[in-house]
Amino acid sequence: MPDDNKPIRKLAGGEDFDGLDRAEPSLPASWYFDRGHYETELARIFYRDWLYVCHASTLAEVRSFRRFDIGRQSILLVRDDDGMLHAFHNSCRHRGSALCTESEGRLKNKLIVCPYHQWSYALDGRLVATSSHAEATDFDKADYPLFEVAVREWRGGVFVALADEPPDFEAGFVRGSDRIENWPMAELVVGHRWHKTMACNWKIFWENFNECLHCPNIHPELCELVPIYGRRISYFRDEPNWALHQDDNDPKFRGGLRGGAETWSTSGRAGGVRFDGLSDEETARGQSYFVSLPSMFIAAHVDYMRTVRILPLGPEETALEVEWLFPPDSLAAENFDLDDVTEFTKLVMLQDAEASELNQRGLQALRFEQGVLMPEEHYVKAFQDWVRQRLQ
Ligand code: FES
Ligand SMILES: [Fe+2]
Repeated sequence: MPDDNKPIRKLAGGEDFDGLDRAEPSLPASWYFDRGHYETELARIFYRDWLYVCHASTLAEVRSFRRFDIGRQSILLVRDDDGMLHAFHNSCRHRGSALCTESEGRLKNKLIVCPYHQWSYALDGRLVATSSHAEATDFDKADYPLFEVAVREWRGGVFVALADEPPDFEAGFVRGSDRIENWPMAELVVGHRWHKTMACNWKIFWENFNECLHCPNIHPELCELVPIYGRRISYFRDEPNWALHQDDNDPKFRGGLRGGAETWSTSGRAGGVRFDGLSDEETARGQSYFVSLPSMFIAAHVDYMRTVRILPLGPEETALEVEWLFPPDSLAAENFDLDDVTEFTKLVMLQDAEASELNQRGLQALRFEQGVLMPEEHYVKAFQDWVRQRLQ
């Protein structure tokens, strides 16, 4: 970028605003489709960091299992008869067959049996039987347990890390979680789940999440509910003249939901039980976000939480999974309208997924080497800086 690039700040009352000063270069286009670069990102990011996989309530029963694909890795999660969660590479120690082909279910007995030659493993990973008539004298079953993967449960969320020595969980994930500490996430259960495979690189989804320049044309319904989004920003200080309106209580300037609305739902009304531990500010805000790169964000509302999980499947393929978390009492209530919540938020997520796919489709133009970030895209810049730093 030229050095004489003019600062774009128009300051009112001498106050600063949060936007970028300069037209910042976006990431190189090839980083969104080049297979070699994708492999580097898997190795340095997804095969190292703690990743969110699911809420523990989706694996509540003993012997329940789920399988997750992360890049080229397949991870099997299983709850043993003592209620302990275990995570393994989905790979048999005999000749490497996949152990599990279903995405989730419940084991019929307390063994994981390889579908190829039927070696059997206990739910803690120990090899308990082979299918051979006689085992070699120097063969010891104790030498062939399933390959274990680090697993943690935190506030009802289940996380895995594929690294041999995973990074510190507290330093990585828990930092910043005070944003949602008043929500009883561990006591909630998944009322609905939705999965979509998006034809885009995983970074495209995060970049879209990190800006609201797209909001008025991509999300007309959401902009009606959250009027500040209709101005292409998500926070009042994201525009240079914010101080002119700093005493204006209109949600268009202040943020928060439109008058009369309580939560993100089609009707705008909150159904079921409301969380009683929230501050007035958290209630007024309408939505609170907690982000844990690279795999998830949480949107917390007055009556439910939503986890949004991103896992890469290929350079131009990303798995999106959304969980809606409610207090059990809400789901049990007779007049509770689950669709009022899920249909609205699914519409917004689908709009974002389609926008991400649209973005991906233009990236391979021969002349397109990289994009440029506008002042409101400072969170996109922060995300891209995080990626650059992880790849150093
Ligand atoms: S590969 Fe699993 S039993 Fe042979
Ligand atoms: Fe969006």
